[in-house]
Amino acid sequence: MRTIAITSGKGGTGKTTVAINLSLALAEAGSRVVLFDADLQLANVDVAMNLKPERSLQHVVAEEARLRDVLVVGPKGVRVACGGSAIRALMTAGPKRLALFFEQIEELASDTDFLLFDTSAGLDNRVQAFVQRANETLVVTTPDPTSVTDAYAAIKTFLRKEPMAAIAVLPNMVSGDKEGETLHHTVQAITKAFLSRGVDYHGCVRSDPRLAVSARRRTPLLELAPNSPAAQDVRRIAARLAAGTLTRYGLAA
Ligand SMILES: Nc1ncnc2c1ncn2[C@@H]1O[C@H](COP(=O)(O)OP(=O)(O)O)[C@@H](O)[C@H]1O
Ligand SMILES: [Mg+2]
Repeated sequence: MRTIAITSGKGGTGKTTVAINLSLALAEAGSRVVLFDADLQLANVDVAMNLKPERSLQHVVAEEARLRDVLVVGPKGVRVACGGSAIRALMTAGPKRLALFFEQIEELASDTDFLLFDTSAGLDNRVQAFVQRANETLVVTTPDPTSVTDAYAAIKTFLRKEPMAAIAVLPNMVSGDKEGETLHHTVQAITKAFLSRGVDYHGCVRSDPRLAVSARRRTPLLELAPNSPAAQDVRRIAARLAAGTLTRYGLAA
């Protein structure tokens, strides 16, 4: 099981959008996927996917249910652990309860290829519990300069804890590949100068007005408009992740 944390420095960069559609794309390509709503502030994966879970992580944190039993099956067979305000409660529950919880996450490995965490913005240090447990972290940033600065700040925080962590920049709402690559180079120039290592890049996602429709209809883009530019971009990122062709800019730097 590969665990991927999807995070950002600043809010509203498209983490949930990327997490949902990347989950669907990985599932479409044959992987068994669990999407875990680990957002401390605004757990909204269930809303975005129009799921009506009877039980959520709330019940797991309250020890009324096992994690495996609260997973809801969504489109393309993606299993979703819906959040509620559970995660915040969990983070204050103390290290022992936290350890038991993460043990339940490990148990998913028997029938899961990819576990994706949709987290809050990464400057909140409670987010780090998920980022630290992930094999890879995707830092979603938009071309907005403050978003890029905050992405760097988040990466710096992660690398201070774990200098060899696999971290990729995922530019979202870009005009095309060129802008995506430029954003990657910008962030990487800073990490190389100040942290002596680079960051990975698996592709970017173009800005797409259909995502507004997707939000309104509570239907993931990959279902609503599977051939739209942004859907194709997400599928390409999924293919690169699944192929495991990580360029490892970071470690070669
Ligand atoms: N590639 C994109 N093109 C256009 N709009 C997007 C794109 N990605 C996300 N959005 C929109 O941006 C807003 C924030 O996205 P969301 O995924 O909720 O961000 P986050 O989880 O980081 O807060 C939503 O209204 C979403 O529809
Ligand atoms: Mg979100």
